[in-house]
Amino acid sequence: MRLSYFLIPMSHKLTVDLGDRSYPIYMGPGLLGRLGELCKGLGRAETCLLISDKNVDRLHGEAAAMSLEKAGFSVLRAAVPAGETSKGHDQLCALYEQAVEHRLDRSALIVALGGGVVGDLAGYMAATYLRGLRFVQAPTSLLAMVDSSVGGKTGINLPQGKNLVGAFHQPSLVLADTDTLKTLPKREYLSGLAEVVKYGIIRDAEFFQWLENQGVSLRDPAGGGVEELVARCCAIKAEVVGLDERESGLRAILNFGHTMGHAIEKVGGYGAWLHGEAVALGMAYAVRLSQTVRGFPADEAERAMTLMQELDLPVKRPAYDWPELRKAMAVDKKSSSSIPRFVLADRIGAVTVGCEVSEEKLEAVWNGMKS
Ligand code: GLY
Repeated sequence: MRLSYFLIPMSHKLTVDLGDRSYPIYMGPGLLGRLGELCKGLGRAETCLLISDKNVDRLHGEAAAMSLEKAGFSVLRAAVPAGETSKGHDQLCALYEQAVEHRLDRSALIVALGGGVVGDLAGYMAATYLRGLRFVQAPTSLLAMVDSSVGGKTGINLPQGKNLVGAFHQPSLVLADTDTLKTLPKREYLSGLAEVVKYGIIRDAEFFQWLENQGVSLRDPAGGGVEELVARCCAIKAEVVGLDERESGLRAILNFGHTMGHAIEKVGGYGAWLHGEAVALGMAYAVRLSQTVRGFPADEAERAMTLMQELDLPVKRPAYDWPELRKAMAVDKKSSSSIPRFVLADRIGAVTVGCEVSEEKLEAVWNGMKS
């Protein structure tokens, strides 16, 4: 079923349809104040572990904790250092220790308040501690709202690569308070727009056109279009996850731009690029690759590049060594053996997964990108 929105109310609710594991996504301004009431509606839990990072905790931790306490929860708070390095074994073990120390039992609820790092880490802790606790995603970054908080992918990084350890563990509820985007550093907000553009290219030409019509106004989270933007992305993500929860086919379309994107993040040492920025560069590469091997029309390729540039997303090839990038792509977990497989566009709104491309073309398209 395709979902189309012409008018989105300020606050919106969608369902991720997974049978008895279905869950709602609430999106809109001011929702953090309803976190406690909505968590209470899940039943059973009296204690919750509110996991955040130090930046988000400082900005929104108190409001979230107060809402939970007002609803009758006993709240334990944990704040990990901000940044990708927290998504590893050390912070995971620290969270386990805190949970054991406070005798958290299986009835406890974990609440992930933050961006993708917090959501993935807290979600993986919830998937594994005492063989699984229920958890709630309360994303505070654009990237987490439109992508990582929905769909149940949780995990941590290994020194050899990102997300190499993880589990599918669906949240019981997603609550995206779009007011939190106003306190997000501008660069982080803009980088989240990469995943937004991705949805248009992979699944919804009409949404892509809506993004083009909104144009530069989307650069501002207070600009008015953000509620509809989050709702439309979540509708696409919910539809895809509902059809293919475990990524046995369709869900792989969400990896558009990610094969090269992950390689760019790795070669950059996980510090040079935010995830969304690396995905934008990966999408620019995938767009050019799609023209070469899938006959993606040139005018549509230019529309994709123009939109990304309007949204201040990077599209120019960084000066990285091809052999190093190629090696980084080989250890991407979505590759079978060392052959990278790409999601490539046939037209705006339709992609093909599992595309293998000759070594010569992979390198020539990279070298052909504007630097
Ligand atoms: N972020 C890709 C997925 O959830 O499948």
